[in-house]
Amino acid sequence: MHSNYLVIDFFNKQLVDLKNNNIDEYRQKSEMLIESILGIEKSELYINNHFIPNNHLECLEQSFSLLLKDVPVQHIIGKTYFYENAFFTPPGIFIPRPETELIIDCVQNDFDKIPDKTVLDIGCGSGCIGITLASLYKNFHVKGIDISKQAIDIATKNAQHLKISNIEITKQDIFEMPAKKFDIIVSNPPYLGIEEISQLDPSVKNHDPLKALSDEKDGLKFYQYFINNLSSILKKDGSMYFEIPKSKITNQIIDMIHNNSNIDSIFFKDLEGNNRVIKVFFKK
Ligand SMILES: C[S@@+](CC[C@H](N)C(=O)[O-])C[C@H]1O[C@@H](n2cnc3c(N)ncnc32)[C@H](O)[C@@H]1O
Repeated sequence: MHSNYLVIDFFNKQLVDLKNNNIDEYRQKSEMLIESILGIEKSELYINNHFIPNNHLECLEQSFSLLLKDVPVQHIIGKTYFYENAFFTPPGIFIPRPETELIIDCVQNDFDKIPDKTVLDIGCGSGCIGITLASLYKNFHVKGIDISKQAIDIATKNAQHLKISNIEITKQDIFEMPAKKFDIIVSNPPYLGIEEISQLDPSVKNHDPLKALSDEKDGLKFYQYFINNLSSILKKDGSMYFEIPKSKITNQIIDMIHNNSNIDSIFFKDLEGNNRVIKVFFKK
């Protein structure tokens, strides 16, 4: 049964409210909500002949009221698209960012589909990096670790939902991980300094978990660990790929790598031309 409320009228009214409340990217977020709740394509939304089904009106109203409170749209709809799949990302889980897909591109650039490799995803969160690699490379044996029990539960759910079986997901603090070496290591670690948190947009600072955003120090803790302990976690001919921020610590990370005489590195830029992923490996 349809209400006599046109989707486009409802949508336009929400846009005005969101704009007046200074919600970032309000049109894009609204389109995502409508698409997800009503199951209609963006192109259909702008056609003036769709009425809101009665049983969806309340859900739409509630969802837009959350958007007005700056709740991230990925938490409202409960999923985030990353590479070729949708990942469950309920509240409490770090929302995968599009720029992190560059790590996948870098691995794909280096490996064809054949090799049998062990892979470690440090701070796997929703599992987006490790699960995507496990799905692209059926011969990879991926281990995803995270300190957060909730992240582990959701990453496990994502792997099951996507029917990926060549990944093992474990609750583990990287700083206490028993020594084991991997062929490939990937990571998008918490890299904000604790003093940067208060400056973040409310949709980030009030919703992404603090432990996913920051090392609760200067942002360098994970990079220091990766570079100082590389020989304990990475095989001799292995490669590690990690995301870096565009911030005041970027040059410190680069200096740390350059000051280590055993390590070589390659930098990869994001679409805006910033160094975004670093590949490190042992000098031959
Ligand atoms: C920036 S999020 C990245 C999540 C996911 N890989 C992604 O790219 O969307 C960082 C993740 O590291 C986890 N984490 C924080 N401290 C950790 C630690 N000491 N050991 C393992 N994981 C940790 C957080 O819980 C969070 O899920």
